[in-house]
Amino acid sequence: MNAIRTVGIVGTGTMGTGIATNVTQHGLLVRLFDARPEAASKAIEQAKAFWAKSIERGRMSREQAEAAAGRLAAVDTLGGLVDCDLVIEAIFEEFDLKARLFETLSGLLPARTLVATNTSCLRVSELARHMKRPERFLGLHYFSPAQINPIVEVVRGEATAPETVEAGLAFCRATGKKPITCKDSYGFAINRFFCPYTNEACRLLDEGLATTAEIDAVAEEAVGAAAGPFRVQNLIKPRINLHAIQNLAPLGPFYAPAKSLIEVGEADRQWEIGEVGEIPAERRAVIRDRIRLGVFLAVLQELDEGVAAPADIDMGAREALRFAKPPCALMDELGRSEVERIVAPALARYGLPRPASLDRVGHLAG
Ligand SMILES: NC(=O)c1ccc[n+]([C@@H]2O[C@H](COP(=O)([O-])OP(=O)(O)OC[C@H]3O[C@@H](n4cnc5c(N)ncnc54)[C@H](O)[C@@H]3O)[C@@H](O)[C@H]2O)c1
Repeated sequence: MNAIRTVGIVGTGTMGTGIATNVTQHGLLVRLFDARPEAASKAIEQAKAFWAKSIERGRMSREQAEAAAGRLAAVDTLGGLVDCDLVIEAIFEEFDLKARLFETLSGLLPARTLVATNTSCLRVSELARHMKRPERFLGLHYFSPAQINPIVEVVRGEATAPETVEAGLAFCRATGKKPITCKDSYGFAINRFFCPYTNEACRLLDEGLATTAEIDAVAEEAVGAAAGPFRVQNLIKPRINLHAIQNLAPLGPFYAPAKSLIEVGEADRQWEIGEVGEIPAERRAVIRDRIRLGVFLAVLQELDEGVAAPADIDMGAREALRFAKPPCALMDELGRSEVERIVAPALARYGLPRPASLDRVGHLAG
């Protein structure tokens, strides 16, 4: 498969702009298309503003920024993407809208062009049914801000060819990213456990066991997070987090959104986080176990399902979520009986089978 040199980006909102900024900066040519032409011009302005800051911070020279700007251009129609080696879709998260776009692109692009979706919640395999060449279709799931966050989930749909996955991985590495290969499963590799991490925090609140500030303080220690589950939700917005968790519903009741999250998310409010005082040891232990349960049970299940490899899950936790104690390494450190003690109450409460991966705890991270 030939190297990717020219990349088309369809949809130049938050994600399309970030992806374009990153890709252009790494020497590739980028063509932008948005249904609203002003959005593509705005993306170019935002990329230039980002590079101007990079110059100020000494991360880029003026010549490099000028060269990058010369590689970035908007096109007026989808037909302007015919010379692209890869087209990345980053339009609204609506199945029918994306399906129609892929049907149109299938009729326009040459057979050699790879097509990727940046969907967070839709099934890559179902979107692929709207492509003439589903074997050349994959998920490239970036994390916001895409010009900075190093992780990209490279998602293989049922029909994605192994060469397409390889090309996706090579493209990510060539653009300075750290790719994670994963199966087309709900929440892919990272949201699969990030969502229950925040959801267990909300359940603790619902059960009246602790305050948001206490939960954040203990959670930061429990997984080594830079920001606890409530502070981090206020950054991404509880409304967006609720939507991400609702997407995991087919995985069963353990993933059902907590009552308080539904309330705050539906009202599009932020979490109130007060001051934290001395936390009694017993309460501290309860919070720590529940936060770890949210992460551990989801990771054990995804390991059983072969969604992603332990090393990739840990890299994603470290790099995309800033967990200094990534799940597989932390489970190994705690040992099987401690992990079993932490997840056992949820297995009983939700009537779940014991994850087979529990037997690998101790040598998960290799
Ligand atoms: N925002 C995030 O944090 C995030 C993270 C990872 C993945 N995603 C996914 O990335 C995709 C884009 O999200 P976003 O937050 O950048 O959205 P956004 O609303 O900021 O931007 C979407 C852009 O797509 C354009 N658009 C809509 N329909 C179009 C069409 N048919 N043809 C061309 N352009 C069209 C819109 O004009 C808009 O500029 C979604 O699938 C989302 O789930 C978002």
